[in-house]
Amino acid sequence: MTNHSNSQEADLFTHAFNQNPYPAFHSLQQHAPVHRTLMPDGHYAWIVTRYEDVVTVLKDQRFIKDFTVFLDEESRAQAHQSIFSRNMLFADPPDHKRLRGLVQQAFTPRMIEELRGRITEIANELIDDMQDRSQIDLIDDFAFPLPIIVICEMLGVPSEDRDKFRTWSNTLVEASNDPEKAEKVQQHMQEFTAYLQEWMTSRQENPQDDMISKLIQAEESGDRLSEQELYGVVSLLIIAGHETTVNLISNGMYALMTHPEQMRKLQEQPGLLRPAIEEMLRFEGPVEFSTDRWASETVELQGQTIHRGEHVLVALDAANRDPEAFEDPDVFDITRGRSKHLAFGKGMHFCLGAPLARVEAEVSLQALLERFPDLQLSTDASNLEWRPGILMRGLTELPVRLK
Ligand code: HEM
Repeated sequence: MTNHSNSQEADLFTHAFNQNPYPAFHSLQQHAPVHRTLMPDGHYAWIVTRYEDVVTVLKDQRFIKDFTVFLDEESRAQAHQSIFSRNMLFADPPDHKRLRGLVQQAFTPRMIEELRGRITEIANELIDDMQDRSQIDLIDDFAFPLPIIVICEMLGVPSEDRDKFRTWSNTLVEASNDPEKAEKVQQHMQEFTAYLQEWMTSRQENPQDDMISKLIQAEESGDRLSEQELYGVVSLLIIAGHETTVNLISNGMYALMTHPEQMRKLQEQPGLLRPAIEEMLRFEGPVEFSTDRWASETVELQGQTIHRGEHVLVALDAANRDPEAFEDPDVFDITRGRSKHLAFGKGMHFCLGAPLARVEAEVSLQALLERFPDLQLSTDASNLEWRPGILMRGLTELPVRLK
């Protein structure tokens, strides 16, 4: 088995990779499907790129989320001080079920369907604001604010503070693997915690009909959620609400605008909207790599030995373009039909917000295409920049001409 530790194709931290990761993903799938690579902070991680292997890792409970089990007691306690460490995404059974169970009831497809009317109103308000302009940034003016307003309203957080959330959450996601930005991460984390503390205290004193008040009551009435876990789940929802759906709407619109024949097809056959969104999730998935996994014991995968305590990252966007799993994987085709893409992950950490993200995308695309049938990119696609960092895949700006 070849293992190109220092080869060109495995350099995931370059501008060229950010701009177009797919040639490197295909090369890894072919030559080094389970590949040990050096991360910017100097430690090694295994990168898994083939569809079948990605599914295996996500479903195999020997790959765990809580890395603190490998630490001594003191370091463990220190790691648990971060508000972002105590949430379902970084928990294993049995904690995972308890942490996910409480919020799950607010995210069922039926509950989310009930929000469709309000989400449509928000989309129309944002579109009304852009109506008289000929050019906009589809991210700043639409794709970013929409999911934020929705999650803030669900939780009961003032959506006016969304710029602050954006700064904090962008730092956490883009800089978390970058040792040079550790100080900034620390500072933004502290600001975020202080904000949440202050605001949740006010909800404790004055409960409302929102998710936060319900979670606080659950915490107060029993031992299902500790205070630390309460911060954990709220910050996770704010971050998940910020960093993902924005990329689905903008990557999806970008794919349509750069494939005008697919755009036309969708405009002629609006019934293709749902399959089109699934194809957008597959073709340019918002979450490029899953969050960290750690081997709890020695595991063999594709002839490689992953030892206990070693770090594993699965590339969802690579799996979604694996030629073994999808015919002509690099072709954007909204008529593919039922899709087995992994954009929302797999297994017990499968995205809790998937029904919400799907409704937000449906409402957004429908409203944008109806109101601006001639919408197109206002710059050459090669001028666009993709955001740094390997966790998320999204554009920094999407300048669009409306008419
Ligand atoms: C988990 C993708 C939107 C909440 C995940 C995971 C993925 C994902 C891949 C699993 C990560 C892993 O296994 O390491 C996406 C995509 C979205 C989206 C592509 C939009 C298109 C949302 C939204 C919310 C949300 C809008 C809620 C506001 C969550 C939560 C988890 C999660 C709470 C953790 C589930 C668990 O650990 O059990 N998401 N997500 N997501 N997502 Fe999403």
